[in-house]
Amino acid sequence: MTDQAIGGSGPAVVLLHAFPVNHHLWDGVAPALAAAGFRVVVPDYAGFGGSPIPTAPPSVDAMADDLLARLEGMGITQFCLAGLSMGGYAAMAILRQAPERITALGLLDTKMAADTEEARDRRLAVAERVLTEGSAQFLVDAMLPQLLGQRTRSEQPDVVDLVSGWIASARPQAVAWAQRAMAARPDSTADLAAYPGPALVLAGDDDVISPPAEQERIAATLSDADLTLVPGVGHLSAIEHPEPVAAALIEWAGRSLPA
Ligand code: MLT
Repeated sequence: MTDQAIGGSGPAVVLLHAFPVNHHLWDGVAPALAAAGFRVVVPDYAGFGGSPIPTAPPSVDAMADDLLARLEGMGITQFCLAGLSMGGYAAMAILRQAPERITALGLLDTKMAADTEEARDRRLAVAERVLTEGSAQFLVDAMLPQLLGQRTRSEQPDVVDLVSGWIASARPQAVAWAQRAMAARPDSTADLAAYPGPALVLAGDDDVISPPAEQERIAATLSDADLTLVPGVGHLSAIEHPEPVAAALIEWAGRSLPA
């Protein structure tokens, strides 16, 4: 993509995808928000999908710089901002840089803490391997059991195929850049504690990457958050069971409107 907005002339809603996928993660969610009147933007970024491989040194701040400049280029200076997993890390970086632009914050299947040293080392090893192999194919088997819930893996072969295809087609340079950026990301607890606006914290209850206990901690850190756990769903909630995710996002975006 696609710096295009779909839908109505209402408030802008920006949806940031996870690693190592692309804006199609939101295909089951964006049309419902658009039909509810919101102006929905689903960018590719960090070299995934149709976005260019970043030239800046890897960091979540560079993701935020890029996204803020592109939104400004679209004339969008105030927006509801939701990100899923890596999208949540990018959203938290935008919150640090430009809190005045965010009218509602949505954190889906994500974490507010920085990586442990082991997690950082694993990311840097993946970055090396993907560049050496010149392909992200190995990540399909490595990541699918973590990205998709058990029920999705056994009952939704179409979703398994879709996500496998997205991962396999991710460009090695994007995978390496994003892993290095995520490895370097800071803890966001203080930023979330300082955010005064309406927030949604949502995750699958079978998310093994950002488990329910982490979602409860995030919701408790924010001053005005609703917490939704979607039953029988893993880490990629937006594609595993889009309907309840869309419904929660419509309600959340509605909270940004004047009463
Ligand atoms: C994602 O879904 O974006 C990744 O699992 C995030 C991460 O590796 O921390």
